[in-house]
Amino acid sequence: MPNQAEGLYGSRARMVSVASGKGGVGKTLVAVNLSVVLQERGHRVLLFDTDAGFANAEILMGVTPKFTLKDFLKKKVGIEEVIFRTPYGVDLISTGMDVEDLITFNVEDKGRVVNELRKIGEDYDYIIFDFPPGFNEQLERFYLSSDHVLVLTATEPTALVNAYTFVKILVLKGLEPVSFHVVMNMVKDLREGRKVVEKFSSVVSKFVGVNFDSTHLMKFEPLVRESVARQIPFVVLKKTSQPSLAIHGIADRITNKIVAKKLSFIERVKLLFGMG
Ligand SMILES: Nc1ncnc2c1ncn2[C@@H]1O[C@H](COP(=O)(O)OP(=O)(O)OP(=O)(O)O)[C@@H](O)[C@H]1O
Ligand SMILES: [Mg+2]
Repeated sequence: MPNQAEGLYGSRARMVSVASGKGGVGKTLVAVNLSVVLQERGHRVLLFDTDAGFANAEILMGVTPKFTLKDFLKKKVGIEEVIFRTPYGVDLISTGMDVEDLITFNVEDKGRVVNELRKIGEDYDYIIFDFPPGFNEQLERFYLSSDHVLVLTATEPTALVNAYTFVKILVLKGLEPVSFHVVMNMVKDLREGRKVVEKFSSVVSKFVGVNFDSTHLMKFEPLVRESVARQIPFVVLKKTSQPSLAIHGIADRITNKIVAKKLSFIERVKLLFGMG
């Protein structure tokens, strides 16, 4: 029987947000593969698929959840039926709507979701959120509730400028997470990529005053495309590929760093839904 006070005030769930300035830089791929790796390491993982669009987590995992959070809100089903157990051991909640829509519920709906998430939070070690690209004011509470934010970028100048702007806005608005990480994806040459990511980190440090807790490089590899086409996470297809090892590197940093908690899990959940 879990200690109720602990459940209410100190759930173990850590919230990890995968974000980017520009779209199509690999957020959903990282969210899915990181979830699988954390699960393989013995953590209980819930992946929150907030992308109702094209290449969402369901598609990348080749699963079709029967119900979405929308069905729960319409009182068609209980929350247990919305939690889909994937063959990878990762639990998945499909929102069936954009994350922006999530926070525009009415008060009664918010109360129901908060109550359910309070219970759910006790069952997981990590809750991974896959974000839409760019900074979105509607999502401020989500950023603030994160323990870790992973900022995805590619090496192209447009992606870098967008990533820089994203980080800067978060910091200017006081939404800086406890732990900030940068993942440079679709890197063609690791040595070049290392130079670019170091330059990027030093510019962010100098002009924004933020030091990333870790930086990661992920190579552009046909395997990643193949994993999308076959709907199997690449960490499962080939554990020793560079992108798989990069995901393990991210998992190392996330699990090693004991984040000083700003808020308890339930305080965060309430904040997310404007009830804090
Ligand atoms: N390391 C890589 N090597 C090869 N292809 C890649 C790599 N990373 C991403 N891609 C390609 O980019 C596509 C987009 O990836 P993904 O859907 O994860 O991006 P996203 O940031 O979630 O996009 P959106 O902003 O639209 O949600 C993938 O379907 C894949 O084809
Ligand atoms: Mg995506």
